Amino acid sequence: MKSNEGMPILPVEAYTSQAWFDREQERIFSRTWAFAGLVGDISEPGQYVSVQAGLNNIFIVMGQDGQLRAFHNICRHRGTQLLRAVGNTKKVITCPYHDWTYDLEGCLLSVPDRRNQFPDLDMASLGLKKASVARWRGMLWVHPDENADPVEAWFGGVEPHLGPHNVDELVEYEKGRTEYDIAANWKIVVENYIDGYHLAHLHSGTLSMYDHRRIESGFEGPHFHFWEPLGAEYAADVERNAPTPLVIPAEQAGAWVPMLFPGIGLAENEDSWSVFHITPLAPDLTRVVVRTKVADVSFLKFASQSIRSYDFWSGRVRGKYESDDGDDPMASGDFMQEDIYACEQQQRSLQSPFFEHGPSALKGEAGVRRHQEVVMEWLGEE
Ligand code: FES
Ligand SMILES: [Fe+2]
Repeated sequence: MKSNEGMPILPVEAYTSQAWFDREQERIFSRTWAFAGLVGDISEPGQYVSVQAGLNNIFIVMGQDGQLRAFHNICRHRGTQLLRAVGNTKKVITCPYHDWTYDLEGCLLSVPDRRNQFPDLDMASLGLKKASVARWRGMLWVHPDENADPVEAWFGGVEPHLGPHNVDELVEYEKGRTEYDIAANWKIVVENYIDGYHLAHLHSGTLSMYDHRRIESGFEGPHFHFWEPLGAEYAADVERNAPTPLVIPAEQAGAWVPMLFPGIGLAENEDSWSVFHITPLAPDLTRVVVRTKVADVSFLKFASQSIRSYDFWSGRVRGKYESDDGDDPMASGDFMQEDIYACEQQQRSLQSPFFEHGPSALKGEAGVRRHQEVVMEWLGEE
């Protein structure tokens, strides 16, 4: 389907078919910088994290010299994955299959029974394949291509539209780490994130502290940026009303909620900073991991801020509807549950023979249409 003015661009198959999913994995997620964690995840030699970047599994490890390096997580013998998830390796990386061993710089160090089994082995040519690694705004990033353009160039255009937060100075709120498996295509999750039209409606009870009429949003290259100010009542005394201690000066309070391509959302606001990391798992299944950082102040300060702001919040955050059904997401008072519900219901409707695209809101859904165009451009389709 071609775009008409104000209509969506992508066909239903873009959200349901394995062929589209595979093409996106190859042409989008394997060719862009991928979020790999927070800078604090790797703080000493031997620590590592691994991440799926499209078709590539990549790990970052800190060497004895304190340098971060990224490698494709593939043994040079028969390709077994070397490291799992997150952890600490000793001074070397040993493949579990036949114990080929590499140093933290990726060089092949030893091969069991080498003289008998591999008399002519050229060890020097069998180092791990390199990927690119970078730190940017308190986050770790990898790119499958060893010679990728710098991360600063990739995000350079959107950076002026991001929050004034110094992410490295904040501390992770470990209990706030959440993982959701959402039964919807990753683009539905992204579109929901960048849809300004739904904020005052789906989230009428949960996000009413911001002024959705004064949203400023747009695209810089493939990246979506978004800012909105506080609502007047919240802003009247944000130092008192914020549920947790401020992380930026009160004069700058507001919410920056960009969606960096492809699928790395940030939620940078007056009292917290979060990353919303979207990983496509299947055409109709998407994982979202949310990690949050807050002010690096004492527990006492958090407790007293919570008491100070209690009056402001009590009764202010509520479900969209009231319901006796304890499982009704619309009554949950939790904006994530509201969003997940909307995304999953949309995905289900796409299967119906009666589904057809409806009109798209001129301003409130402009970002959704632009994101669909960006996906098309990356897939190399008309
Ligand atoms: S596959 Fe790694 S040692 Fe054989
Ligand atoms: Fe939402």
